[in-house]
Amino acid sequence: MPNGADISTAPSSEIYYPSDEVVANANVPDYMEVREEALKDPVAFWDARAKEFLDWYEPYEQVLDDSNAPFYKWFAGGKTNIVHNALDRHAQSWRKNKLAMIWEGENGDQRMFSYFSLWKAVNRFANILKSMGVQKGDTVTIYMGRVPELPIAMLATVKLGAIHSVVYGGFSEQALANRITDAQSKVLVTCDGAWLRGKTVNLKDIADEAVSRSPVVQKVIVYKRTGQDVEMVPGRDFWWHDLEKLPIASPYCETEVMDAEDPLFILYTSGTTGKPKGVLHTCGGYQVHIATTLKYVFDLKEEDRWWCAADPGWITGHSYIVYAPLILGATSFIYEGAPGYPYPDRWWKMVERYNISILYTAPTAIRALMRFGEAWAERHDLSSLRLLGSVGEPINPEAWRWYYKHIGQEKCPIMDTWWQTETGGFMITPTPVVPLKPGSGTLPFAGVVADVVRANGETCDPNEDGYLVLKQPWPGMARTVWGDPDRYVETYWSEFRDFGWYFTGDSARKDDDGYFWIIGRMDDVIKVSGYRLGTAEIESALVSHAKVAEAACIGVPDELRGNVIHAFCILNAGETGSEDLAQELKQHVRHEVGPIAVPAAIEFVDNLPKTRSGKIMRRLLKAQVLGQPLGDTSTLAG
Ligand code: WTA
Repeated sequence: MPNGADISTAPSSEIYYPSDEVVANANVPDYMEVREEALKDPVAFWDARAKEFLDWYEPYEQVLDDSNAPFYKWFAGGKTNIVHNALDRHAQSWRKNKLAMIWEGENGDQRMFSYFSLWKAVNRFANILKSMGVQKGDTVTIYMGRVPELPIAMLATVKLGAIHSVVYGGFSEQALANRITDAQSKVLVTCDGAWLRGKTVNLKDIADEAVSRSPVVQKVIVYKRTGQDVEMVPGRDFWWHDLEKLPIASPYCETEVMDAEDPLFILYTSGTTGKPKGVLHTCGGYQVHIATTLKYVFDLKEEDRWWCAADPGWITGHSYIVYAPLILGATSFIYEGAPGYPYPDRWWKMVERYNISILYTAPTAIRALMRFGEAWAERHDLSSLRLLGSVGEPINPEAWRWYYKHIGQEKCPIMDTWWQTETGGFMITPTPVVPLKPGSGTLPFAGVVADVVRANGETCDPNEDGYLVLKQPWPGMARTVWGDPDRYVETYWSEFRDFGWYFTGDSARKDDDGYFWIIGRMDDVIKVSGYRLGTAEIESALVSHAKVAEAACIGVPDELRGNVIHAFCILNAGETGSEDLAQELKQHVRHEVGPIAVPAAIEFVDNLPKTRSGKIMRRLLKAQVLGQPLGDTSTLAG
């Protein structure tokens, strides 16, 4: 049975009903009926949305092609480019002078882009990439801080019909090198450095080291953000601002016409082996899914100021900072730095200054800000807010209530959206008209068929823990694992093969009202501060240290960060564990994978519990650390 409840979000009877005003103003006031209808025919629901929210160069012939399941196709035959829907069409409409993006740097710098100016910047950079030899179907790896040039580089890549692979700026050498090698990117776009809590992160140095480990890269484009000293390799490295001055960087570039099922981007997520898993999204269905969900769930309106406080380097940022808000013609706000820096009211100050109407963030950030106390929020006028959101991990009811009361002033519904890199967009989520229960993502979105089942496929009883599955395909679904279709089938479609269901890797329960409560991961994924990490990548980093023979990592519940990593290491013969060595190993993980992957604790052990086939039983390690019963140990090697 599922184990490992990460945060206690037990079903409760506490219900928050939307106000009459919220219902009357909602984009989809009759959502409950729409949802009922969609349940009868999900394909018809998505078909209608594809026509409502997007332009197609050529119409699709078939909405869903399930002839080669689980390799589903959506909107087959349709011709499109997400950049056409996100930029080109707005730059030629009345929206051209509307703000597309507002950005604030950690040091207070401000930049604003109208749809027209963003479109021009994207065209310029697309021409620069083209001059570097980037063509349709190529991959471009992007490793940058949270600057406007990150979305610009993504959009420019896609404009050319190329495929981006954005690597989160918090990853380090080996993690970046693995991702570049897997994607076979000849071009890397990076920054000299990034600002974080008043210090600089040396992105270019890390990129140099990664390129030396992954020599497939031929050209590196460097955007200057911090102005720190960096080494530029002649013939390989180019400054963004120098290239922009060249005649090749003209502000007009044709948008490539793509098939709905052509690759759009790769985003690496953790897997069960050290090799990163490149989740592939495609050009057609992804757009339909994210535009629809943003419009319905966050009720986006022309006059909104939308702030998704994620990092563009993760799926939340891809879908809901970059693509969906632009498709809907919205104004999106991006902040470069960390929450609470330099003062705990930094976020609230920006909500006030920019008149933010919708804020979407992660429970870990809410908990961190909650610790500072509500006095910091009370100093600011937060009355512009009308909706709030949460994503990344279960939100504990205490944090939910604080967010509702002190940030939302008891008038803003909280959209707790459950989804994954692989789902592309929201899957289990309320909309503003759905009654809320703190800690529950409420109900599957219209056109989404989710359930909680037992190992044999039977639907669980109310309040019984089980496997969270998706029983019908949806347009934003990942299409494959880059270069490894077998792994795609094995990872997501094998647990419930006989039924043809997608297994999410999460455990959950449904309450008496059919509301979903996510419990946590059942696999080797650890969510630290909402960031998704694989045990395997951290373990291989530990083992790459000269003194470590074997390693195992588990996630242990933590009040602030959701989970933290505990590592167990077996040292090579002749080595002895010490506090100094533990520090050295932490430093090593920071260097190889990144600061978010650093274990909170390292324990030196003589052996690790394994199955007879040699697989480490992390479940037992976790039970030991938490002082829980060990459960079924029949597969443990003697
Ligand atoms: C977890 C992030 C509870 C879950 C968009 C999922 C959540 C994993 C929620 C995917 C939520 C995400 N409530 N748990 N609202 N949202 N999760 O790929 O375990 O980084 O499987 O995508 O995050 O993480 P990923």
